[in-house]
Amino acid sequence: METEATERKKVIFSAIQPSGTITLGNYLGALKNWIDLQDDYNCIFALADLHTITVRQEPAKFRHNALEAYALLLACGIDIEKSPFFIQSQVNTHAQLAWILNCYTQFGELQRMTQFKDKSAKHADNVNAGLFTYPSLMAADILLYQADLVPVGADQKQHLELSRNIAERFNGIYSPTFTVPDPYIPKQGARIMSLQEPTRKMSKSDENVNAYVAVLDKPDDIMRKFKRAVTDSDACVRRAEGKDGVNNLMGIYSCVTGLTDEQIEKEFEGKGYGDFKTAVGEAVIEHLRPIQERYADFMKNKDYMEQCYTESAKLALSISSRTLNKVMKKIGFIPKAF
Ligand code: TYM
Repeated sequence: METEATERKKVIFSAIQPSGTITLGNYLGALKNWIDLQDDYNCIFALADLHTITVRQEPAKFRHNALEAYALLLACGIDIEKSPFFIQSQVNTHAQLAWILNCYTQFGELQRMTQFKDKSAKHADNVNAGLFTYPSLMAADILLYQADLVPVGADQKQHLELSRNIAERFNGIYSPTFTVPDPYIPKQGARIMSLQEPTRKMSKSDENVNAYVAVLDKPDDIMRKFKRAVTDSDACVRRAEGKDGVNNLMGIYSCVTGLTDEQIEKEFEGKGYGDFKTAVGEAVIEHLRPIQERYADFMKNKDYMEQCYTESAKLALSISSRTLNKVMKKIGFIPKAF
């Protein structure tokens, strides 16, 4: 007879910040996997808008960015029937557990986070406490749903490790309470690099718009950016150390076509970078075309989106409250009598 544990589908949780542009890096590093994993796991996804206010936001733009990101993720293929997809700020348990976990996270652990170091250097005029404690909120997001796996790009690995440490520490002090989550980092696409400086990760906050491709970029812009992508003087499409630009383009091409490195090298044998870059541009444009079309439809249907995020938030609240109540009881808070 199967036990309850073996019958239970594994739980996946992941989230993305609605901080303006969603890039090809976000899509290939994380979102594409969210979509692909929906059938085999119990998935739950969120727009991590509480995380976004660690950087000052203009209210109207912030609201617009959140709706735009919500529509774009539905367009990428989140199926709300299978995977609730909610807005973090609408589910109170997140901020509440984050506070609690802050009290089980060491100052030194947070200080070691490379994202904190990078972001505080970048926004030196606003190194707020939220930016510092951001990883405890991220741990709360994940641990509330007892997630087994968290599909993310490589840049979030350190935050995931901290989430694991916090979970293990809490479980050790009290008794098993949280599932200790594993990162799910794809082989191809985990770290999509800047098209202009391929030793740096592709980032939406890059000042040079040619450095990143946005999922909603127009086809002409996508092609222009790939044609201008920095490569090397070797003029040979092959994966090798030091060929960061070409390695990156091969990774992108592989993600959108499903071809292996060997197949790509064969396809471009004897051909120059010009042909290769055009092929990558075309493949990306074709891959994104249906997403862009669906996005436009969702943006015209805000009532439907409201229904999706409201229903998802209700479900998320009910699941996450179970964990939060357990946590509060173990710590010794007086249970609510209402
Ligand atoms: P965010 O919004 O910066 O990025 C969303 C996802 O995209 C991945 N990513 C990349 N992958 C490959 N190459 C790149 N160049 C690239 N740039 C970004 C990120 O790794 C991420 O998976 N803190 C998170 C959001 C978050 C979260 C969570 C994630 C909040 N709570 C709980 C997982 C679980 C963030 O800022 O991601």
